[in-house]
Amino acid sequence: QQSDRDRLYALMNYAKDYYKESLTQSEEGQSIGLSYFRERGFNDRTLEKFELGYSFNEWDHLSKKALGIGYTEELLEKAGLIIKKDGGRFYDRFRGRVIFPVHNLSGKVIAFGARILTKEKDQPKYINSPETEIYHKSNVLYGMFQAKNAIRREDFCYIVEGYTDVMSMHQSDVDNVVASSGTAFTEEQIKLIRRFTENVTVLFDGDAAGIKAALRGIDLVLKGGLNVRVVLLPDGDDPDSFSKKMGSTEFKQYLKDHTKDFISFKIDLLAGESGHDPIKKAEAIREIVTTISLIPDPIKRSVYIQETGQLLKIQETVLLTELNKILIGER
Ligand code: GTP
Ligand code: MN
Ligand code: MN
Ligand code: MN
Ligand code: MN
Repeated sequence: QQSDRDRLYALMNYAKDYYKESLTQSEEGQSIGLSYFRERGFNDRTLEKFELGYSFNEWDHLSKKALGIGYTEELLEKAGLIIKKDGGRFYDRFRGRVIFPVHNLSGKVIAFGARILTKEKDQPKYINSPETEIYHKSNVLYGMFQAKNAIRREDFCYIVEGYTDVMSMHQSDVDNVVASSGTAFTEEQIKLIRRFTENVTVLFDGDAAGIKAALRGIDLVLKGGLNVRVVLLPDGDDPDSFSKKMGSTEFKQYLKDHTKDFISFKIDLLAGESGHDPIKKAEAIREIVTTISLIPDPIKRSVYIQETGQLLKIQETVLLTELNKILIGER
């Protein structure tokens, strides 16, 4: 007796194989999808590792095939593969896009991301599967299946923003990487990482939005009790574009040389902003102490207070007073 979940896994696996085959075995897939991945420098090994695919630019290509071999319309809708219109008509959710399957920890496909290939202004760059019985977005990190062994081995995990960042890092021989897929971290995602390591390195785009996301990411991950380090990329680059510019060896060296503890990262950032203005400096110090207050472990908190005092040349007792105010809720 097959359960609903089993049927969903089977259909998602079928769709994944179908998108994969469309990418490499059809003329449209080759000339549009495959050439897109090639132009972006992704090799066969990466395409295979991440099981990338292509969805034809037609209304019902996938659903017709799936219905033809006995999958029901109801199941296709439950899987998020079709969208139903009033009056019972429906069409494929993913059309004319390259496909990024999302895997669970055991390698089963539970969702898809799909990227547009043209520059249509009224269309989103990426669309994703909706929440389903087997896909809860807030519990998933893209790339965890492909990364988990490397994360255990290296005892830390890079966190990046996007699908292509994960793929490019693998291609540069950095396999311990997962993507937040452009949204804020959840507690479940932190628990997931914790199964493999307590150490994360946040690696975000080097633009204003990336820095903002990194700062938010630091606070969330610290709250989850993980140790956080940060790498800031040059303005305008993301891990995908930067690793391709640098090449594998230099990229890995850059990561080594530019990994900072979150305290030094925040201090550099805020010091750069506040210059010699004492009021701004006081604000910056308060912000750093606020971040430290999020760490659950009191011993780690005191280590970071010491470090901050040394780096900013401020007496530790002053910082501790401020920290305690925050901890008892006076601030
Ligand atoms: P490429 O342009 O293919 O290199 O993608 P990117 O990963 O560099 O995209 P970007 O930095 O703009 O966004 C990071 C991540 O946010 C993406 O990988 C997606 O997971 C997600 N994202 C980006 N654009 C959209 C969108 O229009 N809709 C949704 N739902 N997610 C998006
Ligand atoms: Mn559930
Ligand atoms: Mn960006
Ligand atoms: Mn990006
Ligand atoms: Mn990119």
